Amino acid sequence: MTTLETGLSEATRAAIALDERYAAHNYSPLPVVAAEAEGAWITDVDGRRYLDCLAAYSAVNFGHRNPEIIAAAHAQLDRVTLVSRAFHSDRLGPFCAALAQLCGKDMVLPMNSGAEAVESGLKVARKWGTDVKGVPPGQANIVVAHNNFHGRTTTIISFSDDETARRGFGPYTPGFRSAPFGDADAFAAAIDDNTVAVLVEPIQGEAGIIVPPDDFLPRLRALCTERNVLLIADEIQSGLARTGRTFACDHWGVVPDMYLLGKALGGGVVPLSAVVADRDILGVLHPGEHGSTFGGNPLAAAIGTTVVGMLARGEFQRRSAELGEHLHRRLRELIGHGVVAVRGRGLWAGVDLDPKLGSGKQMCLRLARRGVLVKDTHGSTLRFAPPLVITDEEIDWVVDRFGEEIRATA
Ligand SMILES: Cc1ncc(COP(=O)(O)O)c(C=O)c1O
Repeated sequence: MTTLETGLSEATRAAIALDERYAAHNYSPLPVVAAEAEGAWITDVDGRRYLDCLAAYSAVNFGHRNPEIIAAAHAQLDRVTLVSRAFHSDRLGPFCAALAQLCGKDMVLPMNSGAEAVESGLKVARKWGTDVKGVPPGQANIVVAHNNFHGRTTTIISFSDDETARRGFGPYTPGFRSAPFGDADAFAAAIDDNTVAVLVEPIQGEAGIIVPPDDFLPRLRALCTERNVLLIADEIQSGLARTGRTFACDHWGVVPDMYLLGKALGGGVVPLSAVVADRDILGVLHPGEHGSTFGGNPLAAAIGTTVVGMLARGEFQRRSAELGEHLHRRLRELIGHGVVAVRGRGLWAGVDLDPKLGSGKQMCLRLARRGVLVKDTHGSTLRFAPPLVITDEEIDWVVDRFGEEIRATA
C-alpha cells in the first residue's frame, strides 16, 4: 500500500498545508512532496520513489544532480558566486564563447529565467528594427503563433491566447499580431514593412508538443530573409538535446537569427537563460540599455559552461534520439487502447488521451500512485519528457505502468 492509495501521510499533509498557507496559489501541484532526487528519479518525504517524466519542463534534461554539473557548481561555490556585471568575472567570457560556438553565432546576452530571455529578445528585435531596419520609433510589430507559450511577464501574456494567463492582467503591451502555427502563408500575410521579427517555438511545448508541417520552418526562414525580418526561435523548452538534436530547428536544417535558451542551460541547478545572435543584431545594445543583476553570474556561468561542454559531446542528443524512438514506439502501441494520438520528437512526447478516461489531471494523479510523474496540458493531453539519462528499461517500466492504469480505468 502506498501513501497515495491510503491517503496522504502526515509528513506529506504537513508540507502541503504549509505551502497552501504561505505560498501564492498560482499552481495546482500533484500531492507529491519531493525531498530528494537523483538521475531520473524523485524521492518524496515518505521515501517513496517516482520516475520523473516531466524533468522540470526540460530544465533537468541532464538528470537530477548530474554529477558533472554538481562538481562544477561545488567548485565554483568555493571561488566566487556573484559580482554583478559592474565588474568582469573570469567565468563569463568562457561561458559566452562556448555557447556562441555551440549556436554558431557571434554573441550571447546572459539572463536568468526563460521569460527574461524572451523579453530581452523582443527588446533587441525592436531596437534592431529601429536602429538597423529603419522602422519609425514605436511602430515596430512582431508576429507570433497562435497557442504560443513564451512565459508569464506582462508583455509576453499580452500576445498569448490563453485566457487564463491573460484575464485581469491588462492593460496589455501593443505591437504583436499572431498567425496559426504551421501556416507559413498566414505568417507571410501578417508581415508588413514595420515587422521586425517572427517569434516561434519550433515545436510548441505547452500547446501539447505540436510538431509543425515539414515546410513551415524552412518557409518562415526564407520569408524572414526576404522581408528583412528576424527569425527568433524560442528553444527554451525544445532546445539543448530534448528533441534528439541540439536545437529543434536542426530537424529542418533551419538556423534562426536569434536563439532564446533557458531551462536546461542552468543544468537543473540555477536559473540561466540567454539570447544568442550575431553581432549585427546583439550589437544594438549599448551600456545602460539593458541589464540584470544576476545575469551571467559566475556560478551560473560556470555551470552553463559545463552544460555547453556536455552538449558539444553530442551524447545527450544521441540518447534522446535513440531512446525517443523507443518511447514513441511503445506509446504508439497504446493508440486505440485509451490513447488517441502520440506526437513529438526525441524524448518529448505529447499523448492525447481518450476523453472517456477522464481528464489529463486525473490521469496524472493516478499515474503518480503508480510511481510515474507526468504533466497534463490542454485538458486531455499528457506530456512525457523524462530526463535524458532515463534508460530503455525505465521507459518500458513507465509505459507498462501507463498501460496498466489505462486498463484499470477503462
Ligand atoms: C517555450 C518557452 N518559452 C519560455 C518559457 C518561460 O520560461 P521560464 O518559466 O523560465 O520563465 C517557457 C516555460 O515553460 C517555455 O516553455
